[in-house]
This record gives sequence, structure tokens and C-alpha cells, in this order.
Amino acid sequence: MLVLGIETTCDETAAAVVERADDGRGAILSNVVLSQIDQHAAFGGVVPEIAARAHVETVDLVVAQAMKDAGKTFAELDGIAAAAGPGLIGGVIVGLTTAKAIALAHRKPLVAVNHLEAHALTARLTDNIQFPYCLFLASGGHTQILAVRAVGDYIRLGTTVDDAIGEAFDKTAKLLGLGYPGGPRVEHIAQFADASRFPLPRPMQGRPDADFSFSGLKTALRLEAEAIAPLGDKDIADLCASFQQAVVEVVVDRLRSGLRIFRDRFGAPTSLVAAGGVAANQAIRKVLHRLAFEFGTVLVLPPAELCTDNGAMIAWAGAERLALGRQDMLDVAPRARWPLDELASARGALQRTAAYK
Ligand code: KG4
Ligand code: ZN
Repeated sequence: MLVLGIETTCDETAAAVVERADDGRGAILSNVVLSQIDQHAAFGGVVPEIAARAHVETVDLVVAQAMKDAGKTFAELDGIAAAAGPGLIGGVIVGLTTAKAIALAHRKPLVAVNHLEAHALTARLTDNIQFPYCLFLASGGHTQILAVRAVGDYIRLGTTVDDAIGEAFDKTAKLLGLGYPGGPRVEHIAQFADASRFPLPRPMQGRPDADFSFSGLKTALRLEAEAIAPLGDKDIADLCASFQQAVVEVVVDRLRSGLRIFRDRFGAPTSLVAAGGVAANQAIRKVLHRLAFEFGTVLVLPPAELCTDNGAMIAWAGAERLALGRQDMLDVAPRARWPLDELASARGALQRTAAYK
């Protein structure tokens, strides 16, 4: 099954062609990502209007390049998938409308993909893993621990009560004048610095639930920075390292709780999977390995370029849904908000209706 996927929910215009074999194995035939970072950097974050306009200007080219790289024509495709949310609505409209137009013109099935579901299923594309697995979804907008039990069946075990983990990285970078996007810069600068210099809190540590909180950490960092201002290069590096160390320890503690809850409710997971932009962070990747070992499972980490936003994950999620006979109508609406566990309850409701009949 050959599927084109389009991603436009944030600041990357991306398209890819992915093949899913009948035995469930996946192959990426092309994967084109055009980042808008340069256009947003001056503003210290993503500007929704600039993002939407940039998507409009480039999406056709990006799709054409993905088709060319894959060596396929639209006629050869089995479906067109686009991220229909959650995300910045202007961008989502651009990608979804493009997918609808291609689906309509070439009479192909359309799949409106949940962007978070695409992150959640990426490890099946790269490593062909089986259900159920424990997912740590760590991106600029989300921080969740999920039990992934089947395509469309996601149980949230923990989430952030305030900022997302990537947002915490981005805000830290902004505060320290490191620019946007923050995560990779904080990681880079933290590499050779002193992580024990600043005593930052580890919010939520030790709690039996699997929830996160990052706003207190951010405030503590700001107070430490203000106390020693003006900041030299070494101060900034040590602040980055201390911040990243706090995040790493919080992630281990919260995931340990999440994995315990998973084991109690669903038995042993086939694997621990990390996805989303923050899963590209090497310090976090390192501790996740140890954690998976501690729980007698394996860690599955898609390569960094498939952890950040891309079209291949959208195409793959589309292929997984199409393989189960699920597709969407051409009037499907784009959604700024779209919680992942809603997919599970929608499916439950459908099954309940069927049983009732
Ligand atoms: O999944 P993603 O590409 O976009 C969504 O938010 O959906 O994630 C972007 C986030 C940003 O907050 C960025 O700063 C963070 O992922 N990020 C990182 C790293 N690379 C990207 N955070 C920490 N370390 C990194 N190496
Ligand atoms: Zn994402």
C-alpha cells in the first residue's frame, strides 16, 4: 500500500511517500521536510500567520518533490493522508485542503491523520514493533505517557499539568538569549558545562501518578539567572546543563511511574518508545535506555529526523488506518485541538453502537 503524507501543523512543510507491505512492514520512499525556522527565528517563536503563508507558498513544491523522489505518480497511490490537527489551524487547513484536492482529482481515499497518532505509530514504521507498547510523547506542544494498544486505541497514563517539555526547552533558550528553536541549542551548549552548579527543582518527583510539571522549573531557572546577571557564556552554559539535568531526572522519575502503571493495567509492554521533537535529545535518549532495561523491556527510538515533524509519519499513520479500512470523507474538518485519547473513545463509541444494533 502506497500512501502520500502531508504535514503542515507547525513550522515544517513536509511530504513523504511511504509503502506498507501486507505483513505490516514499512518503507520510506521519499521524505521531504522544508523548515520555516529562518522565517520565525527573528520573532523568537512560531508566528502562526507567517507559518500559514509559508505553507501555502511551498506545499505544492514539497509534494511534487516527494513524488519525484519516490519515483511515483499520483495514480499509483493507494491513499492521501494529511495531518488534520492538532496544530496551528492556518497551517492545518493548508495541508488538509491540499490532500483533499489531490484525493478528489485522482479519486483516491483521504485519511485525516491525528498528528499525535502519527508520532505514536512512527516506531512501527521504523522498527515494526507490536502492540501494546508504552509511548513517551515529548514535543513542543505535548508531554504524555501513553499505552498504545492498537491503531486508534491510546490510553493516556500521564500528561503535563502546565508547560510541554519542548516548550520548557524553548522558553529556557529564549530567556538565555539563545534564540529559536530552543531544544537543540540548549542541548548543544549544555554538552561540556557544569550540570550541578544551579540547584533547580525536580517538579512532581516521587509522586505515584505519571504527570509532569515544568512551569516551576522555568521560574526557578529565571530566578537563578537574574541572581547572577549579567550572564557570561559559562553562566549560560551551566544554566543550560543544570536545566537539562533537571529535565532528564524528571523524565526518568515520571516514566518509571508511567511504566509501573502500564504494567499494573496492561501487563508488560513490548517496548518503551520515545517520539516527538524532544526525543531527539541525546541526554534523554541515554537515560531512556537504562530505564527500559530496568523494566525488562527494550527501547525503540526512531531516528532523530523521524522524531521531529515529518511527512513520513503522517503517510504511515494514514497507511495503518487504510489497512484497517478506515478513511475520511472530503468534508472532514481541520482541528486545532484533538486529544489522542478521543480517538479511542470514538472507536469505543462506534463499537458500542455496533453492538447495540
Ligand atoms: O515534534 P516537534 O518537531 O513539533 C511539535 O511540537 O509537534 O517538536 C518540537 C520541539 C521543540 O520544542 C524543540 O525545541 C524540541 O522539540 N526539540 C528538542 C530537541 N530537538 C527538538 N528539545 C530538546 N533537545 C533537542 N535536541
Ligand atoms: Zn510533532
